[in-house]
Amino acid sequence: MGKKDIDWGNLGFGYMQTEKRYVSNYKDGAWDEGELTSDANVVINECAGVLQYAQTIFEGLKAYTTKDGHIVAFRPDLNAKRMVDSAVRLQMPPFPEERFLEAIEKVVAANADFVPPYGSGATLYIRPYMFGSNPVIGVKPADEYQFRVFTTPVGPYFKGGVKPITIRVCDFDRAAPRGTGHIKAGLNYAMSLYAIVDAHNKGYDENMYLDSATRTKVEETGGANFIFITKDNKLVTPKSETILPSITRRSLVYVAKEYLGMEVEEREVFFEEVKDFAECGLCGTAAVISPVGKIADHGREICFPSGMDDMGPVTKKLYDTLRGIQMGEIEAPEGWIKVIKKV
Ligand code: PLP
Ligand code: COI
Repeated sequence: MGKKDIDWGNLGFGYMQTEKRYVSNYKDGAWDEGELTSDANVVINECAGVLQYAQTIFEGLKAYTTKDGHIVAFRPDLNAKRMVDSAVRLQMPPFPEERFLEAIEKVVAANADFVPPYGSGATLYIRPYMFGSNPVIGVKPADEYQFRVFTTPVGPYFKGGVKPITIRVCDFDRAAPRGTGHIKAGLNYAMSLYAIVDAHNKGYDENMYLDSATRTKVEETGGANFIFITKDNKLVTPKSETILPSITRRSLVYVAKEYLGMEVEEREVFFEEVKDFAECGLCGTAAVISPVGKIADHGREICFPSGMDDMGPVTKKLYDTLRGIQMGEIEAPEGWIKVIKKV
């Protein structure tokens, strides 16, 4: 078998059913051994915990074809760990990290023909997730769970690829102090749907959420963390207990310091400072780095000097270095690249 006949260069960020997915069930206090299946449908009871009380968590990571033709995944160990943290917070049995890694390896290898070729601009998005599967009617955790992993080839998250986007300061909140903003729970995304549809209807690409306690500090968007570049080329990124600890952001902090010799500040970022930054971007697995050209704040506009045509120069350096590491063009730090299939 060979690569699927897909127009790799024109993929958007959408779902395309691939051949195999991984399933493991948790029952009577233990995970079963798990298996690959061709069945893309999930059949659960009408009263399943996930359907009634949204007991579900997920992860997102990507597989790439490197320059030398290997299929690799980027830092999957960090997704495995974060999924354990998410499970603990929602009273779910963590899926063992080693088994998470094995599941990723198996699913990607089984769908190797769907991994976009090197240079196509597309990647294979991997979606591990877990949900309460047995009937629950009183508000309590389920006793049975299903862990699954599927894959889908994807292009850029925002239409237009790496063109700068326009976002708006959102009047809705994403996460409460001591809530669930720091984990990858489906409920965090369900509550953002009203705000994202409203943003799109008004012509904005995304929402900038502020901290819900004081509404003075930058948090994140619905699906990515922020990075800012100062006029003297420092990388500044918000530190907060209520944002998702992005693996892309943590990687960029390292890349900025160790590969580009930049100064990095991970700290609270007040919205009032944002107008003074030279560049702004959203970072995440799906977003990679999406440059932000403009932020609308209730009639006032912040236009970054980098403009609406291209990524700012420092953001571009960060982007090229990170992509280069992921694609095997630039040597990666130890342990960042997991080889799944050699040529
Ligand atoms: N913030 C949110 C709310 C997200 O959904 C994501 C995506 O996973 C990110 C940030 C970026 O995290 P990562 O870089 O680990 O994909
Ligand atoms: C990811 O980047 O993997 C995410 O889960 C974000 C989501 C909005 C697609």
